[in-house]
Amino acid sequence: MSQDRSVRAMQEIGRINTFFPILPSLGNHWAAMRPWEGRVIGLNLHLTTLTAGLVRELTLGGGTWVVSAANPRTTDAGAVELLRNHGITVYTGGDGEDRHSQVLSHRPELLVDVGFELIQRALGAQSSVLAAIEITRSGITRLRAPGHVPFPVINLNDGRLKDAVENRHGVGEALWQAVARLTGMHLSGRRVLILGYGPVGKGIAAYARAAGTTVEVVERDAIRRLFAHYDGYPTPSLSDGLSRASIVVTATGRAHALTAEALGGARDGAVLVNAGHGGDEIDVAGLEDIAIRKDNVGPQVETWHLPGGLRLTLLGGGHPLNIVLNSGSPEPVLLHFGLLGLTLQWLASEPALPDGETIVPEHLERAAAEHALRALGAHHS
Ligand SMILES: NC(=O)c1ccc[n+]([C@@H]2O[C@H](COP(=O)([O-])OP(=O)(O)OC[C@H]3O[C@@H](n4cnc5c(N)ncnc54)[C@H](O)[C@@H]3O)[C@@H](O)[C@H]2O)c1
Repeated sequence: MSQDRSVRAMQEIGRINTFFPILPSLGNHWAAMRPWEGRVIGLNLHLTTLTAGLVRELTLGGGTWVVSAANPRTTDAGAVELLRNHGITVYTGGDGEDRHSQVLSHRPELLVDVGFELIQRALGAQSSVLAAIEITRSGITRLRAPGHVPFPVINLNDGRLKDAVENRHGVGEALWQAVARLTGMHLSGRRVLILGYGPVGKGIAAYARAAGTTVEVVERDAIRRLFAHYDGYPTPSLSDGLSRASIVVTATGRAHALTAEALGGARDGAVLVNAGHGGDEIDVAGLEDIAIRKDNVGPQVETWHLPGGLRLTLLGGGHPLNIVLNSGSPEPVLLHFGLLGLTLQWLASEPALPDGETIVPEHLERAAAEHALRALGAHHS
């Protein structure tokens, strides 16, 4: 049974690597360079098959790799089996603190973290850590809280690649895949309203337009509203846009961007989708308060009946829908993982860096972009 799981994980990694072989090509590079020879590296990551694919390639560059599961709910048993079969120590039991202590007991010199939990735990006086990488926005927020971090931490979230590729194209493509999968809707001819025109909203708008919808944008910031205008999208007021949209998407990162009160003016039958942070951009609790009835139309699809006969359908309970459905191409994540490996390689050479936060340097993003272009067969040197 457990062998089946690791075989399935291996097959999935093989399939993904066939069409975008950035990690195997980096693996060859690390096998030749051996940048982590004699080093111990501690990783606190979501243990998905993609992560297992990354760690397998990293180990080709030498070193001792110790891994903890960032969250038991995102841990794939096949990925864990695969890593253990590969001789890597993986901690999945106990609570987060137990797992982090177990990783730190190996006295790692380099750390990689999602959420600044492993790094936080390594801040003690006897830390062996020379440098660390934080991947997530929430981890960077914690890194920036007052208090001294006695080693450099590379911020992998705020470089140029993540906004442009993962946030814009990754979410833009994945969100509409998720909507189509849940509802069976063909998007052509529909009218879409997008709240927020940051990288995420911009990608969602572009992919909606490519699918044949009419897109309008509501954006609070005048500069970004002007960008939306020149990108060719009308920028109505919220109430005006809501009155005619058949699909409404939030991408603001703000709680209650779409209040129950505003939704009272929505078009009957409108579909509501969140692509932003957390589950509160659409005021679901407020809808609950005023709704007369809620029908479960299908998995992750609920239709709310409001006073006056208005019906609104909410997808994914108001949580970021592409994440709820794990939809979209893995390529942006693989690119980010490639950048993570190149950053670890750079840190192993012990560059002179100040303690605390450093944004990932552009030369590493450029190297990751070149590996990605090569994997896509689009590299011209
Ligand atoms: N679904 C995913 O997989 C995924 C991936 C990356 C980021 N995110 C999240 O998506 C959200 C947007 O990301 P981003 O990088 O585009 O952020 P951003 O902050 O650059 O852009 C958000 C935009 O929304 C606008 N805005 C804020 N409140 C508004 C309101 N009430 N009405 C209209 N516009 C409003 C802001 O002016 C801003 O331009 C963030 O919460 C981010 O964490 C989700």
